[in-house]
Amino acid sequence: MKAICVVGARPNFMKAAPVIDALRRLPAVQVMLIHTGQHYDRQMSTLFFEELGMPKPDLDLQVGSGSHGEQTGQIMVRFEPILKAERPDVVIVFGDVNSTIAAALCAAKLQIAVAHVEAGLRSFDRSMPEELNRILTDHLSDFLFTTEPSAKKNLLKEGIEEEKIFFVGNVMVDTLMKHRHRAEGRRMSQQLGFDPKAYGLLTLHRPSNVDDEATFAEILSAVEAVSAHLPIVFPCHPRTRQQISKSRTAQALMKPSHTVRPRLMLLDPLGYLEFLSLMIDARLVLTDSGGIQEETTVLGVPCLTLRENTERPVTIEQGTNVLVGNRRDNIVAAAEKVLASGNTHGRIPDLWDGKASERIAAVLNDRLRTLPETADRA
Ligand code: UD1
Repeated sequence: MKAICVVGARPNFMKAAPVIDALRRLPAVQVMLIHTGQHYDRQMSTLFFEELGMPKPDLDLQVGSGSHGEQTGQIMVRFEPILKAERPDVVIVFGDVNSTIAAALCAAKLQIAVAHVEAGLRSFDRSMPEELNRILTDHLSDFLFTTEPSAKKNLLKEGIEEEKIFFVGNVMVDTLMKHRHRAEGRRMSQQLGFDPKAYGLLTLHRPSNVDDEATFAEILSAVEAVSAHLPIVFPCHPRTRQQISKSRTAQALMKPSHTVRPRLMLLDPLGYLEFLSLMIDARLVLTDSGGIQEETTVLGVPCLTLRENTERPVTIEQGTNVLVGNRRDNIVAAAEKVLASGNTHGRIPDLWDGKASERIAAVLNDRLRTLPETADRA
């Protein structure tokens, strides 16, 4: 069996790493890794490959930044000839970024099987680019690997055949469990001058939160209020960094008085181990990321999600996640409640046990061994 794994953006890397490992442990499986280059900074990409022990990509398509159409289109233009030359049995894509849909569409049009890791998640908010990427990728896929019960329900409702859906658990948790001990050893909080559980951790990068100046200012004003109770560490995504340079409220918050004894500590994007270390020791996490809602659930760290919806409802039903939207008063009230109440320990969802990638490899190995040669199918 020949498999091509496609990654492009930061949240893909920790999902692909354990799947590549699991596939490589199987005899008679050849794995190729392709990086689209959607994320290209060292802090957003190369560092993750090093820390997660991932093989160097066999090819880097170097698409870089651009509008959605440009980025997606460029990936397709550059990926198609590789698929034609390599003729894999399966293309494996991860999550919901532009690289995911671009690679899936290329493969499906060449009648190459597509496997989607993290299928079926739905926010039911089509203004999110990721929601469109999820829906389209799922409908192009032959293997839909799901992380939580809501995903199967969503897929069946959309008419996807049950035989294509495999509830395997969460590959991000495989990576978290594998690297947790190393991350603890980093002691990032102490390096930044905080005791464990004496700071909050903030991430923010969704266009809906940072691209509109008024919304961004509202969120930052909430963060400032929370930081009066608890200092906040803020590793900053490049998109958000650009917005900070344009926003007057943000500029005011980042004045020297704030950086001498910072209540809001702005950092460059962190590597996987440093960020995980900070998450483990955080008193509270505020985020608009998808993956961080899941990671905090596994770690039992309270998480406030600065969005109106989530495609990962299990983190609310069973985990430590609370949706708080992007209005100042709601964010501050929710943070104060967490600080006053001590904790919101949840349970770890089913099959988030560190073995999701093994299940994926087993399914692919089992089903694809029996397929005719790819060349005959095309
Ligand atoms: C992408 C994903 C999002 C994911 C996020 C994680 C899509 C539609 N969005 O959003 O789902 O949660 O990655 O980070 O695929 N930039 C750099 N260096 C880089 C990469 C980006 O400076 O290595 C800057 C560029 O100015 C770029 C901007 O960040 O225009 C946004 O990057 P882009 O890949 O378009 O989307 P993300 O916001 O990172």
